[in-house]
Amino acid sequence: MLSKSFVSAAILAGLASAAPTELSKRAAIDITVLQFALTLEHLENVFYKQALQNFTLQDFEHAGYSADYYNDLHYIAYDEQTHVQILQGALTANGVTPNLPCSYNFPYTDVKSFITLSSVLEDVGTSAYLGAAPLITIPAYLTVAGSILATEARHTAFQRTALSEVPMPNPLQTSLDPTSVYTLAAMFITSCPSSNMALPFTPFKTLTTDGMSCTCEEPECGNPSQVIKAKRNWPWSGGKEGNWPSGSWNPNQSGSCKPASAGSTVSFKAAGSIASGSFVTFVNGLSVLSVSGTVNGMDISAAVPAGIMGQTYVFITSKNENGTLSAADVEYGPAILEVNPPAPAIDYSEA
Ligand SMILES: *[C@@H]1O[C@H](CO)[C@@H](O)[C@H](O)[C@H]1NC(C)=O
Ligand SMILES: *[C@@H]1O[C@H](CO)[C@@H](O)[C@H](O)[C@H]1NC(C)=O
Ligand SMILES: *[C@@H]1O[C@H](CO)[C@@H](O)[C@H](O)[C@H]1NC(C)=O
Repeated sequence: MLSKSFVSAAILAGLASAAPTELSKRAAIDITVLQFALTLEHLENVFYKQALQNFTLQDFEHAGYSADYYNDLHYIAYDEQTHVQILQGALTANGVTPNLPCSYNFPYTDVKSFITLSSVLEDVGTSAYLGAAPLITIPAYLTVAGSILATEARHTAFQRTALSEVPMPNPLQTSLDPTSVYTLAAMFITSCPSSNMALPFTPFKTLTTDGMSCTCEEPECGNPSQVIKAKRNWPWSGGKEGNWPSGSWNPNQSGSCKPASAGSTVSFKAAGSIASGSFVTFVNGLSVLSVSGTVNGMDISAAVPAGIMGQTYVFITSKNENGTLSAADVEYGPAILEVNPPAPAIDYSEA
């Protein structure tokens, strides 16, 4: 099943030699991590295959994308297919039955919203591998995880470029814990085969971005200071109007919307009421920053703190989490927020 031309024999040998005594001793957790990674790779694998069946080259060209872009998407689809095969091979080599793909519902409606969702999913995937890395006990698996992580990060940069977003908005990739990743992935999963090994994660309660304030961009808006409310019912926000599916924007508003930047007020809607005194906690890069939120029933708003850049995970927490996010303090989340990086400050004195 594995494509030997792309999976080095050395890595495969490393995976096989880890089994089974070493695994039985200390690495039930590694099996869980492999099944978890396979869950994400199955999702991505189906996501790209469906999109390439849903949309033709002409659809991409009508949306303003080149034949080169369309061709490159096939490399992404091939990467995800290969990642699935590598993880299946690693599990099988350890006598564990790999989980099967689930059924999914991906809420894109056109080429642009597919690309936006792809960009979001790839960054979640990259953060998932980073967040899972400290859990891996077997060095050969860590090498494989790092290798896949780097490829997922290329996918993110490719899609961010396609959306005219800064491809590398943060010097540090965000690390995201498995429960948060699982919470996000579960939103796309409609059902899974009952034979699949259950993953030991309980999703957090849902938080969505709701009515984020943003200013129109010229020339669409005559008055650049005009503030519009963008109604979105997805757990993520950001990008330009054209990147969002119909229904997620108020059609009565014209003009585009800039992603939030540091200092922007952003608001979120929780799946239930929010306790007063709750914090809005931003997880971005290797930072965790809490700010006091303004609570109104199920809604909460806060200003984006300085230093937050790129795809950001937002939680409502019962405590000030500055430094480390503790799962026990999470009330709702994560929502996904795209934050424009400031212009880079470069010190040329070292040149
Ligand atoms: C894409 O394909 C899948 C699977 O056939 C389908 O469920 C989905 O509705 C399609 N989406 C679009 C936007 O065509
Ligand atoms: C758009 O405006 C029409 C007419 O004023 C109104 O009926 C409709 O509810 C508005 N739609 C939204 C999403 O606000
Ligand atoms: C967390 O740290 C940031 C940055 O230092 C600060 O602005 C914020 O007030 C802190 N949050 C709390 C709740 O102390």
